[in-house]
Amino acid sequence: MDVRNDRRAHEPPFPPGDVNYSLARARRMVRDPLGVLLDAYERYGPVFTLRVFHERIVWVLGPQANHHVLVSNAPNFLWREGHFRELLPLLGDGLLTIDGDFHRRSRRIVLPAFHHERIAAATGLMVEETQRAMAGLRDGARIDFYAWMRSLAMRIAMRALFGLDPDREREIDAAAEFHQALAFYGNDYWMQVARGPGSPFARMQRARARLNRLVFGEIARRRTTGERGEDILSLLLDAQDEDGSRLSDKHVRDEVMTLLFAGHDTTTATVAFLVHELADAPAWADRVAEEGRRVLGDRAPDAATLMGGGLPELDMVLDEILRLYPAAWVGPRRSVAPFEIVGVRAPGGVPVNYSSWASHRLPDVWDAPDAFRPERFGPDARARIPKGAYVPFGGGSRICLGMRFGQLEIKVIATLLLRSWRFTFEPGWRLAVRQTPTIGPADGLPVRVSRTPAPAQHAAA
Ligand code: HEM
Repeated sequence: MDVRNDRRAHEPPFPPGDVNYSLARARRMVRDPLGVLLDAYERYGPVFTLRVFHERIVWVLGPQANHHVLVSNAPNFLWREGHFRELLPLLGDGLLTIDGDFHRRSRRIVLPAFHHERIAAATGLMVEETQRAMAGLRDGARIDFYAWMRSLAMRIAMRALFGLDPDREREIDAAAEFHQALAFYGNDYWMQVARGPGSPFARMQRARARLNRLVFGEIARRRTTGERGEDILSLLLDAQDEDGSRLSDKHVRDEVMTLLFAGHDTTTATVAFLVHELADAPAWADRVAEEGRRVLGDRAPDAATLMGGGLPELDMVLDEILRLYPAAWVGPRRSVAPFEIVGVRAPGGVPVNYSSWASHRLPDVWDAPDAFRPERFGPDARARIPKGAYVPFGGGSRICLGMRFGQLEIKVIATLLLRSWRFTFEPGWRLAVRQTPTIGPADGLPVRVSRTPAPAQHAAA
């Protein structure tokens, strides 16, 4: 349904906001969206309009707005018609870019792969891959932690979700290809609309073509050999649509690409931000490491402990990282009909974005919103967080499908890393955040790695 043309008479006007043409605002929106949004919130409140180039977008922030868009009035906000459509050239018609019945059917097919026991079964592989990556770390070395983590997260996603063997697929570095493709979305608007052989769009298309070869190649191999496993690709290949037909290769490819994207980019950024914050808060790094030693000894982390609240301090740290840096920072939608939030009315058929990142930094909702304070998520404090205030995984019936998988993966990696390693930054180095289209460190994460002193030295590494 193209709701953009569905403009009725007597629609409410756009909410107040900054609606004059401003190149400076458009530029700042790419480089510092959080600053722009918090600024506008201060002047206009939770619902406002911002014009970026030719387009007016209604932004809705804070607990009530999030609850309205994600839960109580979710059907009024379409995903495909919002800015997620910019991902169509890369991802096609996967879960992130579809709505309605097609979405419900697709989600139902993929869901069994995210059941508790299936996720838990991936723990061993997560541990194995993390230990393999850690074996490459050297005391005193300088590394780009972001690149290190990206390749680890991609190997885990390829193996756990798709039964792909990252070593067999060596001729294509899927993590680097995704990075190249996603870099497109970090360009200025005019660079994104440019076409031609040397344009960012052409580079994105080339990376996409290489990823396509990988995914279509594996689909063809599985269809020919009949090989199946416990992975999502097997589910998709055997799934039947309601008329009994098999999913097309294109449909399977689009879901695989969507899950590879959603499944590695977000966890990469989250672990990178965790390492960054803990470098500034060594007491918390020690607390988490000490908790891991106390509960697990030298044993590898297991699903029951990590998923069952067995490491509460690590849980608090992770929740706080996801508050400060929710990787999927914006939820782009398009309204179907006019709507009203906190007394402000807005039209139907227009772009509407909620933002977890800005909502998590509102000064009237969070004390010292920019400070790293895991205590906010201690048992009593957590109960005081208003409904809808904390939404790093979205909410409602389309809440992040990979939430528990992602949390488990991050906790496995954090537990193993903090047991044996600490990370420090060059004096004066400052984190800059970019959005492409998830948030992450703008220029990688250059760190010096050093072994933790005893008693952790004998721990599994
Ligand atoms: C820290 C890690 C992660 C974060 C912060 C995160 C965040 C999110 C958010 C905020 C949404 C909803 C977006 C919206 O409302 O517009 C979402 C949706 C989704 N996520 Fe995640 N995600 C993470 C990890 C993962 C992983 C590991 C996977 C897959 C393995 C995954 C797969 C998905 C899918 C498929 C959707 C769309 C669900 C639907 O529309 O039915 N995510 N994620």
